[in-house]
Amino acid sequence: MSAPFGRRLCEVSENHSSGGYRVFSLLDREGPTPLPGQFYMLAAEDHWEQLGGRPFLPRAISVAETGPAAAGVRLDFLIEGIGPGTGRLCELAPGESVWVNGPLGNAFREPREVSAGAAGAILVGGGIGVAPLALLRRRFGERNVPVRVLLGFRDAEHSGGLDDLFACCEVRLASEDGHAGHQGYVTDLLAAMLTGDDAGSAVVYSCGPAAMLEAVRALCAAHGVACELALESPMACGYGACFGCAVPKPEGGYLRLCVDGPVIAGDRVAEVTHA
Ligand SMILES: Cc1cc2nc3c(=O)[nH]c(=O)nc-3n(C[C@H](O)[C@H](O)[C@H](O)COP(=O)(O)OP(=O)(O)OC[C@H]3O[C@@H](n4cnc5c(N)ncnc54)[C@H](O)[C@@H]3O)c2cc1C
Ligand code: FES
Repeated sequence: MSAPFGRRLCEVSENHSSGGYRVFSLLDREGPTPLPGQFYMLAAEDHWEQLGGRPFLPRAISVAETGPAAAGVRLDFLIEGIGPGTGRLCELAPGESVWVNGPLGNAFREPREVSAGAAGAILVGGGIGVAPLALLRRRFGERNVPVRVLLGFRDAEHSGGLDDLFACCEVRLASEDGHAGHQGYVTDLLAAMLTGDDAGSAVVYSCGPAAMLEAVRALCAAHGVACELALESPMACGYGACFGCAVPKPEGGYLRLCVDGPVIAGDRVAEVTHA
């Protein structure tokens, strides 16, 4: 799927808190329906460049859910305010407009496309990285792909999306401070699951902080289970022009995460390191 040429203004229809994060929705009258794993480059129309006196590039944000709207499609985003760009997106009010370019990047594939004989999916999300897994879980559900969902959060402040994006399915939780589910890392839950008899018939799909993705990659490699990882790196253009998002390939050379990713097969990554 190719992105519509150029950016377009989309209206904010909703913005509410979700745990320590925010969920906001845009009405996209022109764009195609995105696939799970794809992202958009977003910039608030007003007060984007003025705040902090620094010119902003648009910010890359994964689509977390989508649905029909009166005209076009509704796009839902889960966002954590960690700096001026995401902070501005967190405070968007209904009726405001956002410059949108996307959907961009590739998408997660179905288990049988990733690994012959694989029938089910294990979704492993950490922190704000749970966002793209919500749409992926729904798409797999619609295609009768068995899905198990493992989500981990540092603490209550750095968590969200559960009631909004994962309300309709069983989720196994882990938290580092023990406020919800298993006290420890979400990869503890994955390690236990991968020792089960049916682990080899699943593909693991993961998005989250680099250290978590590296643990997922290494666990899957050790158990001979295929995985797809949604990676992050700072992005300036989002469509292949600036090379700002380049990450090294194990065999040499570079991948541009915005066009070759953000979803990369685990065996194409030597080690996930912070961008
Ligand atoms: C494909 C993709 C999908 C994303 N999806 C989401 C999402 O669904 N929800 C969400 O809240 N965020 C998401 N992000 C992260 C988001 O784009 C960054 O947090 C945002 O650009 C930070 O901008 P800022 O102005 O708020 O903070 P800045 O001041 O620009 O950055 C704050 C700090 O975070 C670091 N940083 C910024 N961007 C990144 C990055 N991409 N990777 C690693 N470190 C970074 C900076 O070095 C700095 O230390 C995604 C990023 C990518 C590449
Ligand atoms: S963000 Fe510009 S090439 Fe990827």
